[in-house]
Amino acid sequence: MLHFKTIIEPFRIKSVEGVKFTRREEREAALKEAGYNVFRLHAEDVLIDLLTDSGTGAMSAAQWGALMQGDESYAGSRSYYRFRDVVQELTGFRHVIPTHQGRAAERILFHTVLKPGQVVPNNNHFDTTRANVEVEEAEARDLVVPEGRVPALVHPFKGNMDTAALERTLEKDGDRIPLVMVTVTNNTGGGQPVSLGNLRAVRRLCDRYRKPFFLDACRFAENAYFIRLREEGQADRTPKEIAREMFSLADGCTMSAKKDGLANIGGFLALNDDDWAESCRNLLILTEGFPTYGGLAGYDLEAVARGLEEVVEEPYLRYRIRSIEYLHERLDAAGVPVLRPAGGHAVYLDARALLPHVPSLQYPGIALGNALYVEAGIRGVEIGTVMFGRHSDGTEGPAAMDLVRLAFPRRVYTQSHVDYVAEAVIAVAGMKDRLRGYRIVKAPAVLRHFTAVFEPLAG
Ligand code: F0G
Repeated sequence: MLHFKTIIEPFRIKSVEGVKFTRREEREAALKEAGYNVFRLHAEDVLIDLLTDSGTGAMSAAQWGALMQGDESYAGSRSYYRFRDVVQELTGFRHVIPTHQGRAAERILFHTVLKPGQVVPNNNHFDTTRANVEVEEAEARDLVVPEGRVPALVHPFKGNMDTAALERTLEKDGDRIPLVMVTVTNNTGGGQPVSLGNLRAVRRLCDRYRKPFFLDACRFAENAYFIRLREEGQADRTPKEIAREMFSLADGCTMSAKKDGLANIGGFLALNDDDWAESCRNLLILTEGFPTYGGLAGYDLEAVARGLEEVVEEPYLRYRIRSIEYLHERLDAAGVPVLRPAGGHAVYLDARALLPHVPSLQYPGIALGNALYVEAGIRGVEIGTVMFGRHSDGTEGPAAMDLVRLAFPRRVYTQSHVDYVAEAVIAVAGMKDRLRGYRIVKAPAVLRHFTAVFEPLAG
C-alpha cells in the first residue's frame, strides 16, 4: 500500500473572505493612530491576523447548519439540552453551566468560591484568569515545572505542574487554597501540553489534601493530541478517549468554546459539586442569563455542541498540530529564536533573545510585534512584560519571558499563508538591530495590554 507523508488541510473551502492588502506607509500611519498597540488597529488593516485563536476560527458547514436548529426559548431550550449532553458525554461533569465565554465562567467560579487572601495554584494563569483571581483579592500562583520557564529548552510536557512545588504549597498554605487549577494547554507558557501522568499526580495531591481540582480546558483537544503523540502507551487511543480521561481526573472545568469549541463565541463552567453549582447558577442569573442559556443564543449552543464533536476528530488535530509545527520548523531552521517545542495553537517568538538591546521594561515584545505589522501586515500579540509585568501592588518588573505569540485561528489560513508568515518573520528578524523599544504613555491598572498607548523610544 502506498503511504503519503504530506499532511493536507482536512477540509475544502465553501465560502471565502477576501483580505485587504495595504502599503507600508499606510500600516505605519495606522499603527501610530492606534497608539502603537495592535489591539487598537482596525482588523481590516491587517493582512494575516494571528492576534488570537479565540473566536476567530472557521465554522464547518455542519455548524452553520446547526445554527438553524437553534431553539431560542428563554428557559429549557432544546439547544441547551443538546449542548449539555455533548459536554457531559465528553467531560462527565454533573452540572453544565453555559457562559458567554471563558472569562465569564472564571468570574462566576472565582467570585463564588474565593475569599480575600486565598491562593489559587495553577501551572500558569492566563491573563483573564489571573485578573479574575486578583479582583477577588486572592493570589494567582504559577507553579509550572522549571523547564516551562526556559524558552529554548525542549521537553515534551513543558506545561506540567511542578508537583513538588504544589505539594509544598498545599502543605504550607493549604488552609488558604479553595481549589487547584491546571491549564491545558498552558497558553502563557507557550501553548505547551500537560501529560496525563502529571494530571494524575495533581489528582493524587488534591485527594490527599482534600482540594477540588479544576481544569482550564480551553485547548483540551490539542492537549489530548499531544498526549497521544508524546506520552508512552497513548498512541493507540483516540483523542476523545484521552480527553475524557483528562476530564475524569478533575472535579470541574472552565472552558472557552472560542478555542477548542470551534465556535465564534461561547463557553461553560462544568462541575460536580452540587452546592457550588447552585451558587454559581444564582450568580449566572444575575449577570449572564438564565441557566439554560447563560448569555448565549440558542444557535450559539448548537454551534458549540457540534464544534466539540468535530474538534476531537483525529484528521483535524493531526493537521492542526502539524501546521503550527511546520511554521516553527522553518523559523527555527532560519535561526529565529522561538520557544521550543512548537505549541498547539501558536508559535511564540522569543523577543527577549532576539532583541537583547531592548530591556524588558522597554517591551521587546511590542517592538517585534509592531515591526511585524509594519513590515508585513501580520498581527501577533505580546505575551510578556506589558501583559504580566505590572503587579497588583502597582510596581512593575520584567515578566518571566518576553514573547510574541503568533496564534492561528482554526481552519482559516492555508499553507501559503503560513509560508508568507515564515518569510516575513525571518526578514523582520534580520532587521533586529534597527528595532527600538517603547514606553507606555497611558494604561489602565488592570489588563493594561488591551488598551495601553505607547510611544517609540528614540534610537
Ligand atoms: N484561559 C485561557 C488559557 C485562555 O487562553 C483564555 C483566552 C481564557 C481562559 C479566557 O477565555 O477569552 O473566552 O474569555 N485566551 C485568548 C487568547 C483570549 O488570545 O489566548 P475567553
